[in-house]
Amino acid sequence: MYALGEGAFSCCGVNLAPLEAEEPDGEHCIKFERAEDEWYVTVNHPMTKDHFITFIAYVAPDGVTIKKLYPEQEAGVRFRIGMSGVIYACCNRHGLFRLPTPKRVSRAHHMRAIER
Ligand SMILES: [Fe+2]
Repeated sequence: MYALGEGAFSCCGVNLAPLEAEEPDGEHCIKFERAEDEWYVTVNHPMTKDHFITFIAYVAPDGVTIKKLYPEQEAGVRFRIGMSGVIYACCNRHGLFRLPTPKRVSRAHHMRAIER
């Protein structure tokens, strides 16, 4: 379950505490590959029925994109590159991990680099 802003959530009468995002560790390493105007974001992680990445989200000032994942699926998703933000990946056993998106290279800077 996820929500924007404050909220109180419960399941079967038990209050659910919000997940605190952690820095990725060796088992939940978030990687970016750029392909034209998209990021291909992967997490090198098992995707078994008992242990898998449940979603990967891209949170930026102008919007939130959440890609739901399922066991046996690849732990990789594509996001159209937008504003700088944060990628979140959620493991059903180990919780939430976060990593800022890579710095964007402006087209002018990119063209200068090519001209050199
Ligand atoms: Fe995990």
